[in-house]
Amino acid sequence: MKIQKIKLFDLKSEFEDIGEEILEEIKKVLKSGTFIMGKNVQELEENLANYFNVKHAITVNSGTDALLISLKSLGIKEGDEVITTPFTFFATAEVINNIGAIPVFVDIDENFNINVNLIEKSITEKTKAIIPVHLFGLPVNMEKVMEIAKRYNLKVVEDVAQAFGAKYNNKLVGTFGDLGAFSCFPTKNLGAYGDAGFIITNNKELAQKCKMLKVHGSIKKYYHEEFGYNSRMDEIQAAILKVKLKYIEKFNNHRIKAANLYNGILSKNPYIITPKPENNNFHHVYHQYTILIKNNSPISRDNLKKELENKGIETNIYYPYPLHKLPVYLNKNNYKVYYPLTNSEDLATKVLSLPMYHYISLNDVEYVANTINEIFNI
Ligand SMILES: Cc1ncc(COP(=O)(O)O)c(C=O)c1O
Repeated sequence: MKIQKIKLFDLKSEFEDIGEEILEEIKKVLKSGTFIMGKNVQELEENLANYFNVKHAITVNSGTDALLISLKSLGIKEGDEVITTPFTFFATAEVINNIGAIPVFVDIDENFNINVNLIEKSITEKTKAIIPVHLFGLPVNMEKVMEIAKRYNLKVVEDVAQAFGAKYNNKLVGTFGDLGAFSCFPTKNLGAYGDAGFIITNNKELAQKCKMLKVHGSIKKYYHEEFGYNSRMDEIQAAILKVKLKYIEKFNNHRIKAANLYNGILSKNPYIITPKPENNNFHHVYHQYTILIKNNSPISRDNLKKELENKGIETNIYYPYPLHKLPVYLNKNNYKVYYPLTNSEDLATKVLSLPMYHYISLNDVEYVANTINEIFNI
């Protein structure tokens, strides 16, 4: 019998659907001869600002640069402390260290996001900013984060790399903080066909600063006012993203539909915890569909992963190491923790992300979920 192969993520079906439209736009760029800072970038920035209903959208080269440039624009510098989660992709903390500041890791709650009730306890006189990460597409409780930030006069950069279109209390995430930093890495909810990212803000001075920093610290050509970066999004990626932005609601809705189907089937399994269900406050866009294998499970997370692999189902562990367990943080001068990171360490041993993308077939979702239940004899 031929094994049915189901990938964690696949862009081929997207290209079959909207590939012609994308190729048409790429062709126009190639014919125009303008590849950097042309009309596609300008139009995409306008379209993004409209989508988020913000005053400024600034395209950059990656989500990492979106975070880096956001922090730089706020004047975060050597010796400053920036509060964030250790349960995220490395880039979130890496950018803090790369500007000489210190990440302060605060433990996560059972939904994988920073525990907002622990943030205040980790604030010192050196704390300058908070980076909440809307992990896997689930919004952080931004009302609480902004309330703390206001009380302690802290800046907020939202890491929205995984949560394009997610909403907290009906408001799009990325629009709460001083700046929102997005990644358009190909697998993201709004993904390019290469590296890309962008920043949004309502603050004119910060927007101006970000625009300057992404082009070697200059607004006027060859007139450099500070040390910046080369971090421009190119015209081809902007043209692709312009097309895909038109479909983002459809893409996200498909992810939600797939997640609901997983939830329905896996809720019968007493050994698995499914992601936090949608409610009025939290509009999840399921960048990842990540389950937790309970302590009393007869099958370990790693064995479940292996069994699924044998049956042709690809899964992944996001993230196998909480950041403070990584080799770069063996040097304890590179980060701070004021309270134990118990949940981060525990959940890293229990998480498993199942196949999820904006064109996944619902039959495949059903097959994956039923296969998991069969492995557990349910
Ligand atoms: C939470 C988080 N932050 C930051 C990044 C960095 O984005 P990029 O890969 O576009 O540099 C990513 C993406 O991988 C991410 O998932």
